[in-house]
Amino acid sequence: MRQEKLIPLIEYARLTDTPESTLRLQIRAGRLKAIRLGRYWYVPVENEIPTPNRHAKVYTLFTHAGGAGKTSLARDLGFELASLGHRVLLIDADPQANLTAWLGLDPGEIEDKATLLFVVEGKGLPEPQAAVLERVALDLVPANMNLALAEVTVPTKTLGMMLLRTALHESGVLEQYDFVLVDSPPSLGSIAAMAALAGDGLIVPVETSAKGIQALRAVVEVSRDYLKTLKALRFVPQTRSQFIVLLVPTKYDPRTLQDRKVKQLLEKAESLGPWAKALSCRPGPYKEAIDRALPVQAVGDGRLREEIRALSETFLHLTQEDLA
Ligand SMILES: Nc1ncnc2c1ncn2[C@@H]1O[C@H](COP(=O)(O)OP(=O)(O)OP(=O)(O)O)[C@@H](O)[C@H]1O
Ligand SMILES: [Mg+2]
Repeated sequence: MRQEKLIPLIEYARLTDTPESTLRLQIRAGRLKAIRLGRYWYVPVENEIPTPNRHAKVYTLFTHAGGAGKTSLARDLGFELASLGHRVLLIDADPQANLTAWLGLDPGEIEDKATLLFVVEGKGLPEPQAAVLERVALDLVPANMNLALAEVTVPTKTLGMMLLRTALHESGVLEQYDFVLVDSPPSLGSIAAMAALAGDGLIVPVETSAKGIQALRAVVEVSRDYLKTLKALRFVPQTRSQFIVLLVPTKYDPRTLQDRKVKQLLEKAESLGPWAKALSCRPGPYKEAIDRALPVQAVGDGRLREEIRALSETFLHLTQEDLA
């Protein structure tokens, strides 16, 4: 018996490279079979959808604020996208190598030539390693502590900040994935810049605290500089106005007045970029996720899974219309 699978319309649009609006017209005209469940449309699919030649979109988790949630977001968003059928490559650009460890690899056993040090030496992108979480496959370019050496090497190279961007384009990996997520270190140094400039935009986690707001100012400022640089080198269209594609309030605790105030303030700052719904502060599941080398939605409850699902939906909507 052949099994039908229901795919959310937004996913179907992405997989077939067809705008969602066109698909809605097709549904209305009876040319595309779809089912409505609650507020959402789903398309029943019997087999794998043939995928046209696509080009990965590359986004960097970016903020110099430590502990804002970059690595958690790279892991959880990456897993969510992969479980929806997207081909995902994660790149650990942080010598702390948290992403590598949280996906179950031991950074102490990672060779330098498997990390971005290879890129910095001008040798191209290393072969990504396979990681399987809850039967969902993801690929990873891991990191180890020695990656810290890149902080001093990158500025000594001609266009050193562009090394990762160049390696991604020259290696052919962009044809093999739908999304590449780069986890950057908590600094505004050269590795962070190389990570930011590799992509089509920045995803910025913002901790709902006074510290979060303070960090945001600097992030917005450097993001403008990065966009200017990319425009000057003609890597992005001159019409592009924002480099931040998504701001994600994190560790939100609605029980504290301070957090509620900060969240309201952040959401008023609409001009800085699109805001996702806040991710709640849930120390227990986030800790368990690290201990068990799993994404948080695999260890958390329904509410947490719903938060991450809503975040990935917002992300997919935004990146579909991304100007990059
Ligand atoms: N929503 C959340 N609720 C509770 N704890 C969280 C949440 N998000 C992340 N954490 C925890 O906060 C810590 C910092 O998160 P994470 O490492 O993802 O941030 P980061 O920005 O990558 O940090 P760094 O700047 O060190 O790279 C981790 O221990 C993580 O498990
Ligand atoms: Mg991190």
